Amino acid sequence: MKPRAKILIIAGSDSSGGAGIQADIKTVTALGGYAMTAVTAVTAQNTTGVNSIVSINPIEIEKQILYTCKDIRPDAIKIGMLHSSLVINSVCKSLKKLNIKNVILDPVMFAKGGARLIDESAIMNLKKKLIKKVLLLTPNIPEAEVLTGIKINSTDDMKKAAKILIRFGVKNVLLKGGHKKSKIIKDVLLNKKEFNIFQNRKVKSINTHGTGCTLSSSIATFLSCGKPLKKSCELGIKYVNQAIRNNVNYGKGHGPINHLNSIKIEKKFL
Ligand SMILES: Nc1ncnc2c1ncn2[C@@H]1O[C@H](COP(=O)(O)OP(=O)(O)OP(=O)(O)O)[C@@H](O)[C@H]1O
Ligand SMILES: [Mg+2]
Repeated sequence: MKPRAKILIIAGSDSSGGAGIQADIKTVTALGGYAMTAVTAVTAQNTTGVNSIVSINPIEIEKQILYTCKDIRPDAIKIGMLHSSLVINSVCKSLKKLNIKNVILDPVMFAKGGARLIDESAIMNLKKKLIKKVLLLTPNIPEAEVLTGIKINSTDDMKKAAKILIRFGVKNVLLKGGHKKSKIIKDVLLNKKEFNIFQNRKVKSINTHGTGCTLSSSIATFLSCGKPLKKSCELGIKYVNQAIRNNVNYGKGHGPINHLNSIKIEKKFL
């Protein structure tokens, strides 16, 4: 199989393989894309929590991005964990040089178990500088609360927060509803013109490690294959939903979803 599109992933490493750059590579690959990476941080974690975070020097992050893209130009870029202001500056500088349209930013702030993955000044920098430069921002509810300063308890609150983010200069926002304790989960997409709400029944499972990373990298893959933004979000949400339903139940905490659920293994390899 020849990969259909090339995607650069700028994100942190999750040693447990459930989220971060590992989830992104698996998702992009499972959907038929070619994954390239720029590692921003290395975390030691498992399904029960984050043990440590080591930052990669921002100069090295910039080098990974620019040196890779000079040779193989990506059709889309997915950005995940950027935990310091210096890292955000180096990513902003690189994006300016690359001038690629399909950039998706998942503003990762907390791991599934609640551990903080970004420092305070980085949040300000993200809000002031980076979110304006991307095509799509994909915050979850706690991240949207931090970015907008409002409390989100209902779908109307989600809409209100999405509108505030558009006022900040975001082009399109997909506010994810996975953190709501309701039977139906709503993800709210807003561009300058209209709202689209994607609804799904909440799957009762502790094994949801990697939902956010998988969603943003699948949207990046669909976009880079030429699908429109709304369709890419719809397909990405469906993909994550199936990945939760088919989770592999590894580990003692929040186990991984099945990032590979689109792949059928040929009998001859079994
Ligand atoms: N239990 C669930 N059942 C069905 N869909 C879910 C469930 N949890 C999350 N989702 C979906 O997964 C996608 C990611 O949303 P979520 O709010 O979990 O992101 P996130 O908090 O950034 O994830 P992560 O913790 O991996 O960073 C959304 O499309 C959301 O609707
Ligand atoms: Mg997330």
